[in-house]
Amino acid sequence: MRVTIFGTGYVGLVTGTCLAEVGHDVVCVDIDQAKVDALNRGEVPIFEPGLAPLVQANRDAGRLRFVSDPVESIGHAELIFIAVGTPPDEDGSADLQYVLAVARTIGRHLEAPVVVVDKSTVPVGTADKVRATIAAELAARGTLVEFEVVANPEFLKEGDAVNDCMRPDRIIIGSSSDEAIDALRRLYAPFNRNRDRIVEMDVRSAELTKYAANAMLATKISFMNEIACIAEHVGADVEMVRQGIGSDPRIGWHFIYPGAGYGGSCFPKDVQALSRMARQGNCDTHLLDAVETVNQLQKGHLFELVQRHYGGDIAGKTFALWGLAFKPNTDDMREAASRRVLEQLWAAGARVRTYDPEASAEARRIFGERDDLVYCDSDHEALKGADALIVVTEWKQFRSPDFARLHAALADRVIFDGRNLYHPDQVETAGIAYYGIGRGR
Ligand code: UGA
Repeated sequence: MRVTIFGTGYVGLVTGTCLAEVGHDVVCVDIDQAKVDALNRGEVPIFEPGLAPLVQANRDAGRLRFVSDPVESIGHAELIFIAVGTPPDEDGSADLQYVLAVARTIGRHLEAPVVVVDKSTVPVGTADKVRATIAAELAARGTLVEFEVVANPEFLKEGDAVNDCMRPDRIIIGSSSDEAIDALRRLYAPFNRNRDRIVEMDVRSAELTKYAANAMLATKISFMNEIACIAEHVGADVEMVRQGIGSDPRIGWHFIYPGAGYGGSCFPKDVQALSRMARQGNCDTHLLDAVETVNQLQKGHLFELVQRHYGGDIAGKTFALWGLAFKPNTDDMREAASRRVLEQLWAAGARVRTYDPEASAEARRIFGERDDLVYCDSDHEALKGADALIVVTEWKQFRSPDFARLHAALADRVIFDGRNLYHPDQVETAGIAYYGIGRGR
């Protein structure tokens, strides 16, 4: 099928590439000409495992093109995806200006019937606004063209996005039009073999489903972080508790890992946007607000452990900090816990030597060059001259360090483990003091 996708961020680029990979004819549109040029040279602007070779192969095969001029690409399409950003407004609501700008563009140039697909995470009611915006533009032109607007939220995880797209758990299609649903069923047929993953529903329920999924996952994490806090105070080990509850299938193993707080471009933004949306409808969100509050507190917890160990005085100390990205397998530092830890360490007069397998360039872009930050090329280099180690992101390569080497390298012989990668006994046997999250025993 002929597909046009507006927006070449994570969602647009991954979706467009995977659709091309299964044989569709895809045009990706972005207003950023430099980005379009880079993509046309085969340069993928984000680190996402498996994505760059797929982009390359599908470009070479002529099924995937990148353009900045929307006009021709609107004429090309049977389906037009809106996958542009919905950043938070000052009050936490999702800012729809980019989504509605695309809707206006579609309305101004549409000549033949099309299905418009909302892929961005958008507040309930956005599909109606997109429909009204397109209709208003068509009316202003005095043109009558049939179109449908469908809500089809994405559930991609950064770091595993290609896999999520090629092998989705579920495909949510929100629409009341049989023709539109049929078009999306045909589009997704290659991803929908063996069992039917498609869940059809009305547009508003589909829009809310996306927020509910992210809010539920964020709630699980904040819940576990609160249990970790309790464990610390009552002398229990949250890692034992996690294993004890995860085996109950009603609870499950996923998203119950305590840590340095959830980050990324989705959970913080979506929990706030959902809460804002609810309040606009006069519905209180006590639970969602607590999820957000717990996460804010949790992001400061690693630093509290550092302060506790040093009796509140870390001025002049040097910390090795492993992991900058908000989670492994990405170079994304949006809302990353590392940012809070770094700011707190600097404010207290400490210096940092940091290493991340992928996110150092992004950190350089955010923080630039400064005296109290050294960007290192390896985890070992970060340890040189360090008094203590702080682990913020659970990259695989940090999981089994040589503790004898750490003992020799760290002047104060202490590790602050923000992801519970190590067992306290293992570290303490090596003669190193250990602080984890919720490990009070
Ligand atoms: C999340 C959802 O998982 C995707 O399904 C969704 O499509 C996406 O948002 C989106 O809305 O676009 P993502 O932000 O890539 O995906 O990251 P996650 O893997 O969900 O992790 C989010 C944060 O939670 C990370 O900071 C991670 O370290 C933290 N986390 C995750 C925990 O602290 N504990 C856990 O047990 C799991």
